[in-house]
Amino acid sequence: PVPLRELAARDGRDVGTAVPGPALKNYAGYREELAREFSTLTPENAMKWDAIEPERGTLNWTDADAAVDFARRHDMAVRGHTLIWHNQIPRWLTDGGFSREQLDGIVREHVRRTVGRYRGRVFEWDVLNELTADDGSGYRRSLWSDTLGPDFPARVLRWAREADPDAKLYWNEIAADGISAKSDRFYAFAKALKAAGAPLDGVGFQAHFNLDGVPKGFEENLRRFSDLGLDVRVTELDVALQLPADDTARARQADIYAQVVRACRRVDRCKGITVWGFTDRFSWIPETQPGFGDATLLDRELEPKPAYRAFAAAL
Ligand code: XIL
Repeated sequence: PVPLRELAARDGRDVGTAVPGPALKNYAGYREELAREFSTLTPENAMKWDAIEPERGTLNWTDADAAVDFARRHDMAVRGHTLIWHNQIPRWLTDGGFSREQLDGIVREHVRRTVGRYRGRVFEWDVLNELTADDGSGYRRSLWSDTLGPDFPARVLRWAREADPDAKLYWNEIAADGISAKSDRFYAFAKALKAAGAPLDGVGFQAHFNLDGVPKGFEENLRRFSDLGLDVRVTELDVALQLPADDTARARQADIYAQVVRACRRVDRCKGITVWGFTDRFSWIPETQPGFGDATLLDRELEPKPAYRAFAAAL
C-alpha cells in the first residue's frame, strides 16, 4: 500500500502522529512504521514543561532531542508541543507562589529557550494549549489566567516569534471541534488576537473522538477559523472505543476517521492531520479513560485496522 504520507502529500497536506518517548527508543518495528507512514511527528510528552525542567534550572532535553533527531533522519517535520498548558507543569512552578512579574520572566525564559533550541528544526509550535474554559465563559482558570492577566496569550506568542521567526505559531484547543459555546469563545479569542496583530498563524483542533461521532458543525468550524486568515489543523485525532470492541464498532470508528479526513480536505487552509498515536500499543486512551481503548489506526501488533484503510482511502 501507498504510505499515508504520500497520499496526503498528493493533496498538499501532511499527516503526522504523536510519538511517546519510550516507544521511539525501544521498538524497532514501531520506528520503521512511523518513518514509513508519517511526514510529521509530535513529541507526545517530551517537550512539556515538566519533562524539560523537572527541577527549577535543571534542564532535560534528552527525549525531545531524540524525537527531533529521529525526524531529521527520516525526513519528517516536527510539531512542537506544547509551551503553555495547565497540565504537566512542574511542581516548583505551580507551588512557587510567584508574582505576576516573576512568572512573566519565568514563562518568557521557558519560551525563549525551548523555541530557540529547536529553531529551524521545529516547524510549528502549539504555543498555547487548552486555554479556553469548557463552558465558553472565558479563559480556563489556571496558573496562567490567574497570575499573568488577560493579555498573556499575545505576549507569549510574541516571545515565541522572537525566538524563531520562521516557526508557525498555533493555539491548540480541546473539545472545541464542533460549533459550541466553547468553540465560539475560542473563535472570539483567535479573532481578537488577529485584530491586535499578535503573531498567531494557526489553530489546532484536537479531535479526541469516540463513537458519538464527529461533532456537529466540525467542517464549518474549521472553515470559520480559516476565514480569519489562520491555518487550521487536526492535531490529536483518535476515536476511542468501549472495550471489548467488536467489528461493528471498528467499522463505525473507520467511518469517523474518514469523515475527519474529508472535512479537512474540504477546507483549503487545513494543513493536515495528526493522529494521537498510530498503534493501540501506545495510546493514552486506556490510561486516562478506563474501559476505553482501541482508538488508533493499527492494532497492538502494528496490523492495520479498518480505520487505517478508511483513513488512507479518504486522504
Ligand atoms: C496526553 C498524553 O498522550 C499522555 O501520555 C499524558 O499522560 C497526558 O497527556 N491534550 C493534549 C495532549 O494536548 O498533550 C495530551 O496528551 C492529550 C490531551
